[in-house]
Amino acid sequence: MIVKRRASITGWGKCVPPVKLTNDDLEQLVDTTDEWIVARTGISERGISHVEVTDLAEVAAHRALAAAGLEPTDIDLLVVATVTPEITCPSQACYLQERLGAVNAAAFDLNAACSGWVYGSATVASMIEAGIADRVLLIGAEKLHFVMDYYDREQCILFGDGAGAGVYEASTAGDGVLASDIGADGVAGRTMVIPTLGTAGELSQRREPSDARLHFEGQAVFKLAVRGMEGSVRRALDRAGLGVDDVDLVVPHQANLRIINSVTRRLGVPPEKVMLNIATHGNTSAASIPMALADAVDQGRIEPNSIVVQTAFGGGLTWGTTVMRWGDRVEAIAKSDVELPPCDKSVFELLADNRAFFAPLHQEQAEN
Ligand code: UT7
Repeated sequence: MIVKRRASITGWGKCVPPVKLTNDDLEQLVDTTDEWIVARTGISERGISHVEVTDLAEVAAHRALAAAGLEPTDIDLLVVATVTPEITCPSQACYLQERLGAVNAAAFDLNAACSGWVYGSATVASMIEAGIADRVLLIGAEKLHFVMDYYDREQCILFGDGAGAGVYEASTAGDGVLASDIGADGVAGRTMVIPTLGTAGELSQRREPSDARLHFEGQAVFKLAVRGMEGSVRRALDRAGLGVDDVDLVVPHQANLRIINSVTRRLGVPPEKVMLNIATHGNTSAASIPMALADAVDQGRIEPNSIVVQTAFGGGLTWGTTVMRWGDRVEAIAKSDVELPPCDKSVFELLADNRAFFAPLHQEQAEN
């Protein structure tokens, strides 16, 4: 009998910045209310990082490695999904490889925005199935507040910072990623754009406020997200030979509670099978699913051999789904004592540079 080699999650961890931006704080920055934000998005607070993306990723990585009972040197591939890498070259993954001392790991970054973790899961699962890698550390890490305009109420209420990590290991026991679906629509990509952090335009304009912020058509993205994730989950389940009733837990990208509710209602997944942590983290892009997955395991929402569906939608536009059978172990082998350094600044102090940078844009708009 041929035993299929699959990629199974054996370690999980997350890193959340200690400083929170609450809806009450946002009421002091833009014309909004806690009631509006909770009703339209399900978000109450989001993390604002006082450290760099590498620091967030490093803590999440140590926690996932400890949960898997592995050392950084055991890893043979390190992939970081992010749209906010700390620098362009070396990649965020190489930067992190150095920090972790994961000297035996190949390393690269992957940009599929909010779908980055699912694209990453499909990629590393294929590489494990092909025998290219045995033990992979996949990380989603974002410092989104860097590109957020805290004068724009339609975007700044949604996004937060954080990192989530998972260890994928080769398994021949029947557990692991059973099927994946990934897709993209570059034409619709202009509904969600971060112009800078690339080489487009004049060198002298690279730090123009209008180019340095997220441009976002919320309603258009909303509708495409609902249809995109529903279709992607159906295709991935079909490929796995499973139906919606076989699913034990859906871990969706935490973009907006109303998007998640619409997708799962259309699929026929009951609320008790849907993992949510958006209220306390907001949308952390590529970090959102691994952060929710870590919470799901730690809260006992995943049992041995559970069928777990991860699904996401995001900038690009991109979408993706993985269907996996969890392994036998749902307890962490060990816990890491690595922590972020403490922060002595208030959230308003952390956002002061951002506000100062984007202020001229809004003065110009008010004058025109
Ligand atoms: O990661 C995948 C990417 N997807 C996403 O991140 C989410 C995509 N979209 C969304 O989450 C939602 O479309 C939003 C939360 C951005 C907006 O929610 P909505 O229900 O689609 O609101 P809307 O854009 O239809 O706006 C309704 C009203 C407007 O006022 P008028 O024109 O009716 O007077 C907005 O100006 O709500 C106003 N509004 C706000 N009011 C208070 C927009 N943002 C705010 C705000 N506070 N923060």
